[in-house]
Amino acid sequence: MYEQVSHSLLNAILDDLKPEIRRQDLRHFYTRLGANFYAIYSLFFTLYGHREDFKPQMLSLVETMAKGYITRSAELERVDILREQDHNWFLSQKWVGMALYTNGFADNLDDLADKTPYFQELGINMVHIMPILMCPTGKSDGGYAISDFRQIDDRLGNMNDIRRVAEEFRKRDILLVLDIVLNHTSDEHEWALKAARGESRYQDYYYIFDNREIPDMFEQTMPDIFPESDPGNFTWNADMQKWVMTVFHEYQWDLNYSNPAVFIEMLDIILFWANHGVDVLRLDAVAFLWKKIGTSCQNERNAHLILQLMKDCCQVTAPGVLFIAEAIVAPVEVIKYFGEDAIIAKECEIAYNATLMALLWDGIATQNTKLLYQGIKNLPAKLERATWLNYVRCHDDIGFGFDDNDVRAVGYEPFAHRKFLVDYFSGQFDASPARGMVFMRNDETGDARICGSLASLVGLESAQESGEPALISSAVNKILLLHSLILSFGGIPLIYNGDAFGVVNDYSYRDDPSKNNDNRWIHRPKINWERAELRKKQGTMEYTLFNAMKKMIAIRKETSAFADFNNRELLNVNNEHLLCFIRFNYQRPSERVLVVANFDANPQYLDLDDIGGRGANLNGRFVDLYSGSKPDTYDRWIVLQPYQFYWLTIM
Ligand code: GLC
Ligand code: GLC
Repeated sequence: MYEQVSHSLLNAILDDLKPEIRRQDLRHFYTRLGANFYAIYSLFFTLYGHREDFKPQMLSLVETMAKGYITRSAELERVDILREQDHNWFLSQKWVGMALYTNGFADNLDDLADKTPYFQELGINMVHIMPILMCPTGKSDGGYAISDFRQIDDRLGNMNDIRRVAEEFRKRDILLVLDIVLNHTSDEHEWALKAARGESRYQDYYYIFDNREIPDMFEQTMPDIFPESDPGNFTWNADMQKWVMTVFHEYQWDLNYSNPAVFIEMLDIILFWANHGVDVLRLDAVAFLWKKIGTSCQNERNAHLILQLMKDCCQVTAPGVLFIAEAIVAPVEVIKYFGEDAIIAKECEIAYNATLMALLWDGIATQNTKLLYQGIKNLPAKLERATWLNYVRCHDDIGFGFDDNDVRAVGYEPFAHRKFLVDYFSGQFDASPARGMVFMRNDETGDARICGSLASLVGLESAQESGEPALISSAVNKILLLHSLILSFGGIPLIYNGDAFGVVNDYSYRDDPSKNNDNRWIHRPKINWERAELRKKQGTMEYTLFNAMKKMIAIRKETSAFADFNNRELLNVNNEHLLCFIRFNYQRPSERVLVVANFDANPQYLDLDDIGGRGANLNGRFVDLYSGSKPDTYDRWIVLQPYQFYWLTIM
């Protein structure tokens, strides 16, 4: 958009830029800045226009982008240009992700680089390496309490190692995903240390208060994130004799984005990592970026404006880099992290689909898909150039954050239903084979979440103890069922470290004092590569599971109907145990895949009359992409074994 005020300002700013910045060849930079400047200026003005230092801050923002551009390598700029030309590149079905901790997957970053062939073996071409930056020992929140945003944790390696990983990945067309922890720093970060020493410039980087007056006002409406280990949202700092806002752990100080200097520092860090060859940045806990008295301090409008501004600025310098929003919030809120009032995504291009994740677990516990169906039906439509990250498990807990209206609409009472789910997965419900743990029960609200590895939650751990082959195979089938859905739903599937060969809970965290008050460690295992070798040995559970996953991934990549272009039609098929949807090729809509999944422990059938006009006369013409053969039928029914799925195409 051409707008005169901001353009004359842009010219003035460009004249003012430091001479060493001006001398460089900034052709692409100018074009992109020109295209985005109106948006950047308006957002920066909305957030910070009332401040006396607005102009110098605006100059410093443009300088940060220019500096980032100048240090971007020719190779990365080439990638930027290719991605600009093919701007829907990440919506393709070809991408399949995995999330892992460096020292859970390998010994360190160097060893991880050596293990790259494993990703190719399985078909993974996007790897989220969880936080690798400097963190104090014992006060790290699994890497999410960073004390230096530009240093690698020396237990994991150094800058050369991550460079090697990035190169190794780029050579093999694997995308590198790293975290940017935007919401807080460790209390041992230099800014926090300076603040604690009384430097007011750095005290302004955080939310710091002399007494309880304002903290108490905030507390009235702020929920507790870790009520068992870290109740309350403020921590007393004896050095300063002041209160600091600490929403997560007491050693994680919340950054104050009402200060433009904080925004610019964090943008600089984003560009630093973009220039180290990171393809996708996972922005951690984005819902929390803006704090306002009288609110839950989550999903605030200004949090969205900050993300839009980050995106617009990053696009000027490193347009090939994507953002993932990690916002584990209500379905109507999650969708806003793609951007509101827009056609094309303008905040984060990718968002965790926590809604689908929680709904899938509901299906497993109830053996029934009515809530799953209802929740998917009400999943708001995404914007263009936006996609979901579909996952079953990750390094965090599972919260049953469904929309209460959906829960009621299918006939459950929300409180009782959530209690059932927590009891089911923590194994307190008699008929449950699950071996999960309750995470952060909040006695005041009755809320609780669940931890546990995928394998243990679907009953593999208890089945292996019983030694019953039928129970083991039923757990393996549940793992495959869940993955068949995240691989076909639309979006990028994200497989969690260890899930491709059924790694169960790891109880060793209980002996580690820095971990034993956080049972999320139960599902952050270290891969035993000797055991993982069993994936090559026919007849083992690992072989069955791994090879089935590998096959599904390969088929997904070949099935263009699985790309993500709002090309899914959910079907109501009059069978409460089945989830059924059609995926079609958005360019050739006649190319369709009918996805059917049976969540029940008993065989079920799909009545072809129930899939509308398309169904009845198609009997006999279906082929299952996964098995390569015709599905089992009986009369006009397609029959599914317990926990079986089909990806049916028409011959
Ligand atoms: C994110 C991370 C989680 C961490 C939290 C606080 O949600 O996924 O592990 O505890 O942020 O940084
Ligand atoms: C925050 C994160 C969520 C995580 C939780 C920590 O709410 O957004 O992902 O599960 O912290 O348990």
